[in-house]
This record gives sequence, structure tokens and C-alpha cells, in this order.
Amino acid sequence: MTTAALVPAAGKGERLGAGTPKALREVGGIPLLVHAVRALAASRVIDLIVVAAPVDFVDEVRGLLGELDVTCDIEVLAGGESRQESVARALIALPSEVDIVLVHDAARALTPPELIASVVASVAAGHAAVVPGLAVADTLKQVNTASDVVATPDRASLRAVQTPQGFARAVLQSAHAGVDPSDPIATDDAGLVERDGVTVHVIPGHEEAFKVTRPIDLILAEAVLAKRRASGNVS
Ligand code: CTP
Ligand code: MG
Repeated sequence: MTTAALVPAAGKGERLGAGTPKALREVGGIPLLVHAVRALAASRVIDLIVVAAPVDFVDEVRGLLGELDVTCDIEVLAGGESRQESVARALIALPSEVDIVLVHDAARALTPPELIASVVASVAAGHAAVVPGLAVADTLKQVNTASDVVATPDRASLRAVQTPQGFARAVLQSAHAGVDPSDPIATDDAGLVERDGVTVHVIPGHEEAFKVTRPIDLILAEAVLAKRRASGNVS
């Protein structure tokens, strides 16, 4: 089996604050995207990584990743206006022999390689679509436009889902083929696949696979990395 990972990394990182695109912001002196690519390579289950980079940073990203001492192939192309469009562009670049595809946010920089391997193993075991998920700590409320609560879903049945999300290639490809890439309708790839009636299987996620989204997440990421370095688990 040949497995590829698509890495949407073309976002601006507006919630993190203006400046360098988020994928190039550093934790422990290393860009988030480099952390994410190293983790994918360290999982030992990925043959090819396709990165959708910010349009104006394609050459810079190519240079950055070209320096890495990793065994898998890495391709870099320009991402799109939305995450969905960035994934769609990366999907087009896949060679025909790839049969399992992961989609993994560059912003989930510190995702443990073990979680990546678990997602691939679950797809290889026969699940057409697999997402890591965690129980939610907060009670979630559904509100209307006036900010009045209209429902409180049972927390026990909810999961906060992460990436990498793993798919049988044909399932992901037909989900993307059925939608307009410039009109994003889903915030994750599993959401697109669900629209096709495919069952998405949830496996246990990992706390360290959190998405660096807001400034406080950078503080958490620095702390997680410091803990890993102190324990000799360097990246
Ligand atoms: N992404 C992408 N192309 C886009 C938008 C997002 O490849 N046009 C990627 C981001 O780089 C990130 C992942 O999708 O790795 C998850 O998106 P998010 O956390 O929302 O990142 P940003 O869109 O960069 O952040 P923000 O929404 O705060 O601007
Ligand atoms: Mg975004």
C-alpha cells in the first residue's frame, strides 16, 4: 500500500495575529510546518507528503523542507483561498499508486507520530474514513443569531475531532470532486465525505495534536516541546 499525507499549510493565521503565515511561525525555534512534516516522516507510515503552501511562500517552503533529513518524498505547491481548496489542489498532485490519503493540518504541529500511524492502521484495517477525536470538556450550546440558546446537545455523544484524518483515496477524491473548490462547505475533510453517506470512524485522539490557533496555543506548544526536550524526546 502507498500512503500520502496532504498538508494544508496555506492559511494566514489571522486568529494568531498578523504577520508571517502561521505555518512559518516558530515553536522552539522551528516553524510549525517543519514540526508537522517531521512528525509525519517519523511515523514511518507515509511515503509522500504534499504541502499546500501560502501562495507567496512556495519557494521558501520548498527550501525549508528540502533541507530536512527525511526518507519520504516531499512536494510543495501553492494552496488556495480556503482550506478546502488547498486540500483539493494537493489531491490533484497525487500519483496514481497512492491508495491511502491522510489530510493533516500544518497547524497541528506537535501531533505525535504514534497518532499518525494509528490513523493509517485504521484505514488499512478497512475503515474508509477515520478521524481522531477527543471527548469535549466544555458543555456546548447551540445558539441562534440573537445568541439565545436553542439546544444543549448531550456532551457524552460529542467529539472534538483532530487531524490527521485518513481516507481510502477514492472516497476522499469523490467527495472533493462533488463540490466546488472555491465554495468551501465543510471545515474538515470528514465533513465532505459524510455528505456522500460514507461512515466516518472515530479513534482516540491525542491532547498534543491540538491546533495552534490563538496566541495562547503557542504558549502551550512551547511548553509541550520543552517537556519533550527535557525528557530526551527531541524534535
Ligand atoms: N489552510 C490552508 N489554506 C487556507 C486556509 C487554511 O491550507 N486557505 C490550512 C492552515 O494553514 C492550517 C489548516 O488549514 O494548517 C487549519 O486552518 P486554520 O487553523 O484555520 O489556519 P488559518 O486559516 O491559517 O488560521 P485563521 O483561520 O486564524 O486565519
Ligand atoms: Mg482558517
